[in-house]
Amino acid sequence: MSGEVWEAVDDYLASVLVGEDPALDAALRASDEAGLPAIAVSPLQGKLLYLLARIRSARAILEIGTLGGYSTIWLARALPPDGRLISLEAEPRYAEIARANVERAGLAGLVDIRVGPALDTLPAVEGPFDLVFIDADKRTTPDYFEAALERSRPGSLIVGDNVVRGGALLQGDDPSSEGMRRFVELLAADPRVEATVIQTVGAKGWDGFAVALVRS
Ligand SMILES: C[S@@+](CC[C@H](N)C(=O)[O-])C[C@H]1O[C@@H](n2cnc3c(N)ncnc32)[C@H](O)[C@@H]1O
Repeated sequence: MSGEVWEAVDDYLASVLVGEDPALDAALRASDEAGLPAIAVSPLQGKLLYLLARIRSARAILEIGTLGGYSTIWLARALPPDGRLISLEAEPRYAEIARANVERAGLAGLVDIRVGPALDTLPAVEGPFDLVFIDADKRTTPDYFEAALERSRPGSLIVGDNVVRGGALLQGDDPSSEGMRRFVELLAADPRVEATVIQTVGAKGWDGFAVALVRS
Protein backbone atom coordinates (compact mmCIF):
# COMPACT_ATOMS: atom_id res chain seq x y z
CA MET A 1 0.00 0.00 0.00
CA SER A 2 1.39 3.40 -0.94
CA GLY A 3 2.00 6.41 1.26
CA GLU A 4 -0.72 8.32 -0.61
CA VAL A 5 -3.31 5.73 0.44
CA TRP A 6 -2.14 5.86 4.08
CA GLU A 7 -2.54 9.63 3.99
CA ALA A 8 -5.96 9.49 2.34
CA VAL A 9 -7.18 7.02 4.98
CA ASP A 10 -5.75 9.25 7.72
CA ASP A 11 -7.52 12.28 6.24
CA TYR A 12 -10.80 10.34 6.10
CA LEU A 13 -10.49 9.06 9.68
CA ALA A 14 -9.42 12.46 11.01
CA SER A 15 -12.33 14.19 9.27
CA VAL A 16 -14.80 11.71 10.80
CA LEU A 17 -13.27 11.21 14.26
CA VAL A 18 -11.66 14.59 14.97
CA GLY A 19 -13.26 17.03 12.52
CA GLU A 20 -12.67 20.74 12.56
CA ASP A 21 -11.33 22.05 15.83
CA PRO A 22 -10.81 25.83 15.90
CA ALA A 23 -8.12 25.84 18.63
CA LEU A 24 -6.12 22.96 17.22
CA ASP A 25 -6.47 24.20 13.65
CA ALA A 26 -5.35 27.69 14.75
CA ALA A 27 -2.36 26.19 16.59
CA LEU A 28 -1.21 24.41 13.44
CA ARG A 29 -1.79 27.51 11.31
CA ALA A 30 0.13 29.79 13.71
CA SER A 31 2.98 27.27 13.92
CA ASP A 32 3.15 27.05 10.15
CA GLU A 33 3.06 30.85 9.72
CA ALA A 34 5.90 31.18 12.25
CA GLY A 35 7.98 28.71 10.23
CA LEU A 36 7.98 25.87 12.77
CA PRO A 37 8.68 22.45 11.23
CA ALA A 38 5.55 20.38 10.49
CA ILE A 39 6.47 17.59 12.88
CA ALA A 40 3.62 17.70 15.39
CA VAL A 41 1.70 14.48 15.99
CA SER A 42 -1.19 13.92 13.59
CA PRO A 43 -4.77 14.71 14.68
CA LEU A 44 -5.50 11.01 15.20
CA GLN A 45 -2.31 10.54 17.20
CA GLY A 46 -3.17 13.63 19.25
CA LYS A 47 -6.54 12.12 20.01
CA LEU A 48 -4.86 8.87 21.04
CA LEU A 49 -2.72 10.83 23.53
CA TYR A 50 -5.86 12.54 24.83
CA LEU A 51 -7.64 9.19 25.21
CA LEU A 52 -4.67 7.60 26.99
CA ALA A 53 -4.63 10.50 29.44
CA ARG A 54 -8.40 10.18 29.95
CA ILE A 55 -8.18 6.40 30.41
CA ARG A 56 -5.47 6.97 33.00
CA SER A 57 -7.56 9.76 34.64
CA ALA A 58 -4.37 11.80 34.47
CA ARG A 59 -4.08 14.77 36.80
CA ALA A 60 -0.40 15.49 36.14
CA ILE A 61 1.27 15.20 32.73
CA LEU A 62 4.87 15.79 31.64
CA GLU A 63 5.68 16.39 27.98
CA ILE A 64 9.24 16.50 26.65
CA GLY A 65 9.23 18.31 23.28
CA THR A 66 6.56 21.02 22.92
CA LEU A 67 7.11 22.47 19.42
CA GLY A 68 4.02 24.70 18.83
CA GLY A 69 1.97 23.05 21.56
CA TYR A 70 -0.26 20.90 19.34
CA SER A 71 0.14 17.71 21.39
CA THR A 72 0.20 19.88 24.53
CA ILE A 73 -3.33 21.07 23.76
CA TRP A 74 -4.58 17.53 23.20
CA LEU A 75 -3.05 16.32 26.46
CA ALA A 76 -4.11 19.34 28.52
CA ARG A 77 -7.70 18.88 27.39
CA ALA A 78 -7.73 15.53 29.19
CA LEU A 79 -6.91 17.15 32.55
CA PRO A 80 -9.39 18.12 35.25
CA PRO A 81 -9.61 21.85 36.14
CA ASP A 82 -7.02 21.41 38.92
CA GLY A 83 -4.65 19.32 36.76
CA ARG A 84 -1.21 20.36 35.58
CA LEU A 85 0.92 19.82 32.50
CA ILE A 86 4.60 20.70 32.31
CA SER A 87 6.06 20.78 28.80
CA LEU A 88 9.79 21.14 28.09
CA GLU A 89 11.04 22.85 24.93
CA ALA A 90 14.61 23.75 23.94
CA GLU A 91 13.76 26.51 21.45
CA PRO A 92 12.56 29.78 23.04
CA ARG A 93 10.80 30.83 19.83
CA TYR A 94 8.84 27.58 19.62
CA ALA A 95 7.87 27.90 23.28
CA GLU A 96 6.57 31.41 22.64
CA ILE A 97 4.35 30.19 19.80
CA ALA A 98 3.22 27.25 21.94
CA ARG A 99 2.27 29.52 24.84
CA ALA A 100 0.12 31.65 22.51
CA ASN A 101 -1.51 28.53 21.05
CA VAL A 102 -2.22 27.09 24.49
CA GLU A 103 -3.64 30.43 25.65
CA ARG A 104 -5.91 30.65 22.60
CA ALA A 105 -7.13 27.13 23.41
CA GLY A 106 -8.13 28.35 26.89
CA LEU A 107 -5.64 26.06 28.64
CA ALA A 108 -3.00 28.49 29.90
CA GLY A 109 -4.02 27.91 33.51
CA LEU A 110 -3.11 24.23 33.26
CA VAL A 111 0.08 24.39 31.20
CA ASP A 112 3.59 25.39 32.24
CA ILE A 113 6.06 25.50 29.31
CA ARG A 114 9.69 25.53 30.43
CA VAL A 115 12.44 26.57 28.06
CA GLY A 116 15.87 24.99 27.71
CA PRO A 117 17.43 21.65 26.82
CA ALA A 118 15.31 19.09 28.68
CA LEU A 119 18.29 17.51 30.41
CA ASP A 120 18.92 20.94 31.98
CA THR A 121 15.31 21.71 32.91
CA LEU A 122 14.34 18.20 34.12
CA PRO A 123 16.16 18.38 37.48
CA ALA A 124 13.72 21.09 38.63
CA VAL A 125 10.68 19.14 37.44
CA GLU A 126 8.97 17.36 40.32
CA GLY A 127 6.69 14.38 39.81
CA PRO A 128 4.94 12.18 40.12
CA PHE A 129 3.24 12.32 36.74
CA ASP A 130 0.41 10.06 35.58
CA LEU A 131 1.50 10.30 31.95
CA VAL A 132 4.80 11.30 30.36
CA PHE A 133 4.96 11.95 26.61
CA ILE A 134 8.52 11.81 25.24
CA ASP A 135 8.79 13.57 21.87
CA ALA A 136 12.01 15.64 21.75
CA ASP A 137 15.47 14.85 20.32
CA LYS A 138 15.36 11.13 19.70
CA ARG A 139 18.98 10.36 20.54
CA THR A 140 18.32 11.38 24.15
CA THR A 141 15.12 9.35 24.54
CA PRO A 142 16.81 6.70 26.77
CA ASP A 143 17.74 9.47 29.25
CA TYR A 144 14.25 10.94 29.07
CA PHE A 145 12.83 7.47 29.73
CA GLU A 146 14.89 7.18 32.93
CA ALA A 147 13.83 10.70 33.95
CA ALA A 148 10.19 9.74 33.27
CA LEU A 149 10.50 6.62 35.41
CA GLU A 150 11.97 8.62 38.29
CA ARG A 151 8.92 10.90 38.11
CA SER A 152 6.29 8.18 37.78
CA ARG A 153 4.23 6.07 40.17
CA PRO A 154 2.62 2.65 39.78
CA GLY A 155 0.08 2.89 36.97
CA SER A 156 1.76 5.83 35.22
CA LEU A 157 2.01 5.70 31.43
CA ILE A 158 5.14 6.61 29.49
CA VAL A 159 4.57 7.19 25.77
CA GLY A 160 7.28 7.74 23.16
CA ASP A 161 6.84 8.86 19.55
CA ASN A 162 8.89 8.22 16.40
CA VAL A 163 10.19 4.85 17.45
CA VAL A 164 10.12 3.08 14.07
CA ARG A 165 11.39 5.93 11.85
CA GLY A 166 10.38 4.43 8.49
CA GLY A 167 12.11 1.18 9.44
CA ALA A 168 15.43 2.81 10.40
CA LEU A 169 14.85 1.38 13.89
CA LEU A 170 16.23 -1.92 12.61
CA GLN A 171 19.56 -0.92 11.14
CA GLY A 172 19.86 2.87 10.99
CA ASP A 173 23.27 4.03 12.25
CA ASP A 174 22.20 7.64 12.91
CA PRO A 175 21.99 8.83 16.54
CA SER A 176 18.17 9.01 16.46
CA SER A 177 17.77 5.38 15.33
CA GLU A 178 20.42 4.25 17.80
CA GLY A 179 18.62 6.15 20.56
CA MET A 180 15.36 4.45 19.69
CA ARG A 181 16.92 0.96 19.60
CA ARG A 182 18.34 1.61 23.07
CA PHE A 183 14.92 2.87 24.21
CA VAL A 184 13.21 -0.32 23.00
CA GLU A 185 15.87 -2.45 24.71
CA LEU A 186 15.33 -0.54 27.95
CA LEU A 187 11.56 -0.97 27.67
CA ALA A 188 12.10 -4.73 27.40
CA ALA A 189 14.73 -5.04 30.12
CA ASP A 190 13.55 -2.63 32.80
CA PRO A 191 11.57 -4.52 35.45
CA ARG A 192 9.76 -1.31 36.40
CA VAL A 193 7.63 -1.32 33.20
CA GLU A 194 5.54 -3.46 30.87
CA ALA A 195 5.70 -2.05 27.36
CA THR A 196 4.91 -2.45 23.70
CA VAL A 197 5.58 -0.61 20.44
CA ILE A 198 2.89 -0.28 17.79
CA GLN A 199 3.88 0.56 14.22
CA THR A 200 1.83 3.32 12.64
CA VAL A 201 1.17 4.48 9.08
CA GLY A 202 -0.68 7.60 8.03
CA ALA A 203 -0.11 11.31 7.54
CA LYS A 204 3.19 11.00 9.45
CA GLY A 205 4.48 8.23 7.18
CA TRP A 206 5.65 4.93 8.68
CA ASP A 207 6.58 5.24 12.33
CA GLY A 208 5.59 3.97 15.76
CA PHE A 209 4.45 4.72 19.28
CA ALA A 210 5.86 3.09 22.41
CA VAL A 211 3.56 2.71 25.40
CA ALA A 212 4.88 1.63 28.79
CA LEU A 213 2.92 1.01 31.97
CA VAL A 214 4.79 1.53 35.25
CA ARG A 215 4.30 -1.60 37.34
CA SER A 216 2.86 -1.68 40.85
C1 LIG B 1 8.70 16.33 17.29
S1 LIG B 1 8.79 17.94 17.98
C2 LIG B 1 7.54 17.91 19.23
C3 LIG B 1 6.17 17.85 18.66
C4 LIG B 1 5.06 18.06 19.67
N1 LIG B 1 5.18 17.10 20.76
C5 LIG B 1 3.74 17.87 18.99
O1 LIG B 1 3.38 16.73 18.66
O2 LIG B 1 3.03 18.89 18.80
C6 LIG B 1 10.25 17.87 18.92
C7 LIG B 1 10.50 19.12 19.74
O3 LIG B 1 11.53 18.83 20.67
C8 LIG B 1 12.33 19.97 20.79
N2 LIG B 1 13.65 19.56 21.29
C9 LIG B 1 14.70 19.08 20.60
N3 LIG B 1 15.72 18.83 21.41
C10 LIG B 1 15.30 19.17 22.65
C11 LIG B 1 15.92 19.15 23.92
N4 LIG B 1 17.18 18.73 24.09
N5 LIG B 1 15.20 19.57 24.97
C12 LIG B 1 13.92 20.00 24.82
N6 LIG B 1 13.30 20.05 23.64
C13 LIG B 1 13.98 19.63 22.58
C14 LIG B 1 12.38 20.55 19.38
O4 LIG B 1 12.77 21.91 19.41
C15 LIG B 1 10.97 20.30 18.92
O5 LIG B 1 10.16 21.42 19.19
